[in-house]
Amino acid sequence: MSLPEENKQVVLNERPARGPINDNTFKTQIGQVKEPEDGEVVVKVDYVSIDPTMRGWLNDTRSYLPPVQIGAVMRATSLGKVILSKDPNFKQGDLVFDTFGWQEYWTGPGKAIQKRVTPEGGREIDHMGLYGLTGMTAYVGLFEIGKIKNGDHVVISGAAGAVGQVATQIAIAHPKCTVTAIAGSKEKLDYLKKLGAHNVLNYKDSDFTKQFKNVGLIDVYFDNVGGEILDQALSQLNPYARIIACGAISAYNAEKPAPLYNYFNLVSMKSTMRGFIVLDHANMFKEGSEYLANLVKEGKMKADYHVTYGLDTCVSSLKDLFEGKNTGKMVVSLKGDKEEAKSKL
Ligand SMILES: NC(=O)c1ccc[n+]([C@@H]2O[C@H](COP(=O)([O-])OP(=O)(O)OC[C@H]3O[C@@H](n4cnc5c(N)ncnc54)[C@H](OP(=O)(O)O)[C@@H]3O)[C@@H](O)[C@H]2O)c1
Repeated sequence: MSLPEENKQVVLNERPARGPINDNTFKTQIGQVKEPEDGEVVVKVDYVSIDPTMRGWLNDTRSYLPPVQIGAVMRATSLGKVILSKDPNFKQGDLVFDTFGWQEYWTGPGKAIQKRVTPEGGREIDHMGLYGLTGMTAYVGLFEIGKIKNGDHVVISGAAGAVGQVATQIAIAHPKCTVTAIAGSKEKLDYLKKLGAHNVLNYKDSDFTKQFKNVGLIDVYFDNVGGEILDQALSQLNPYARIIACGAISAYNAEKPAPLYNYFNLVSMKSTMRGFIVLDHANMFKEGSEYLANLVKEGKMKADYHVTYGLDTCVSSLKDLFEGKNTGKMVVSLKGDKEEAKSKL
């Protein structure tokens, strides 16, 4: 098979200063599709991920992954199909997932990438969300870090987002749990009610503090946003509460993160707050996928996606995450097939 000549790519042009990304942060270029060597495959990328953590990868600071280098293709988990294989373990048409980046084609060693099979009743796009890192983050967060128990009051911030929607539904399905879901618009609260959340709160409401107090004390707080919402959650802990420090999107573009006045309640309420990075828990991904697939079969799990089309939408989609424009997982499709991405709700 002859390979396509051009490979459209979005690369890091310059590191943004503190604050949101801007028009100079990335640039688009036309690269080449590299011929595979022995043991390598060529992948046509169908979906690329858009994640809040990407903002951190642009800073030249110590983190759980090295920063993306200037001139490098933007790092992103992606799903695609093998179009040419010089690795005996892969054949043309195999569905594969890995960090292929914001580009149309990827060439590299087969041993570095994962072959994927879509669970019965699932869609290919679910590898980007429900059965991808965001679904696994929700699963690992609630079970391994949050130690969710029957009857817990579970509060989830960023609840209508990629991780949040899965975490919310896991908690709703957990025996006798009461679930409070926090998000930033009326539409998102309606969506969360439809999923079955017992309480829904809009953190942009002027009386949010009072509304949050009224839902009572918390056993598990799944924190996707940090900042003032985390601080209030700290003031409402039950004894032995668990805070799942998953992310702090409110701080990613901020000059300074908001102060936490109530952290001492971790001591007085004998509670824990534990950070984690999902990539360290790959040993739980198989059980996590099976667990989520079972919830889907039982009608207790739905996955929604916010899909845009074409590599040119990657940068605006990343900006949109920080403005709350997505409900569900933000994904860019390079397929031009709009059907598969439709919500199941
Ligand atoms: N620890 C890990 O291994 C791991 C893995 C994946 C993700 N994460 C973290 O998990 C969190 C959620 O990620 P995701 O991929 O699921 O993103 P997401 O929730 O789909 O998208 C981000 C959402 O955050 C909300 N948001 C934006 N700015 C905000 C602010 N200043 N205050 C409060 N909410 C704000 C917006 O919703 P509203 O309209 O509701 O404001 C937006 O839709 C992020 O913090 C991410 O870094 C951690």
